[in-house]
Amino acid sequence: MTQDLSFIHRFEKGVSTAAPLLLLHGTGGDENDLLSLGKALAPDRSLLSPRGKVLENGMPRFFQRLAEGIFDEQDVIKRAHELADFIVEAGKAYKLSKPIAVGFSNGANIAGAMLLLRPEVLTGAVLLRAMVPLAKPPQANLAQKPVLIISGASDPIIPASNAALLATMLKNTHADVQHETLPTGHNLTQNDVTLASKWLNR
Ligand code: MLT
Repeated sequence: MTQDLSFIHRFEKGVSTAAPLLLLHGTGGDENDLLSLGKALAPDRSLLSPRGKVLENGMPRFFQRLAEGIFDEQDVIKRAHELADFIVEAGKAYKLSKPIAVGFSNGANIAGAMLLLRPEVLTGAVLLRAMVPLAKPPQANLAQKPVLIISGASDPIIPASNAALLATMLKNTHADVQHETLPTGHNLTQNDVTLASKWLNR
């Protein structure tokens, strides 16, 4: 754990000069959670993994929600900017190029919000079990930024229509979106790792 920048985080330097991965955990996770996923996806890349600053019954998250799937959008906006500022700060501190966000669940949702509000801080994103983070985002231009969305067909938290709407929303900003749906629920599977690592290394 490192706390000298504005988020508690872990940083692991990789040997590759390819874009580092920004790992964003789900509700109740922390900066350690997705390090093994990051290494499985791209063993050579640098990994930057912050801990969400919001606590819900003691569980770290990246923004507040009013109920499951119902977001406090003012907080989503504030926290997306805060995290985007951290990416810039960490980029200078560790001499990193713009990262590719790899977010799971709540981490995918804050990554989606950053794509819509601060697209310039990310090279692209892998959104695992993501939903629409903002009902009426400002008009953004993602200029062919690559985005992979992987949904679960039987995800009890995220209706298929919501994940599809997120894909459409991002396509409308001119992102280069690939949306895949796996025969699984909310949790990650080996198929997620296989798909995402292929996409990252294409
Ligand atoms: C969220 O709050 O971001 C989503 O409901 C996913 C979750 O964290 O459970």
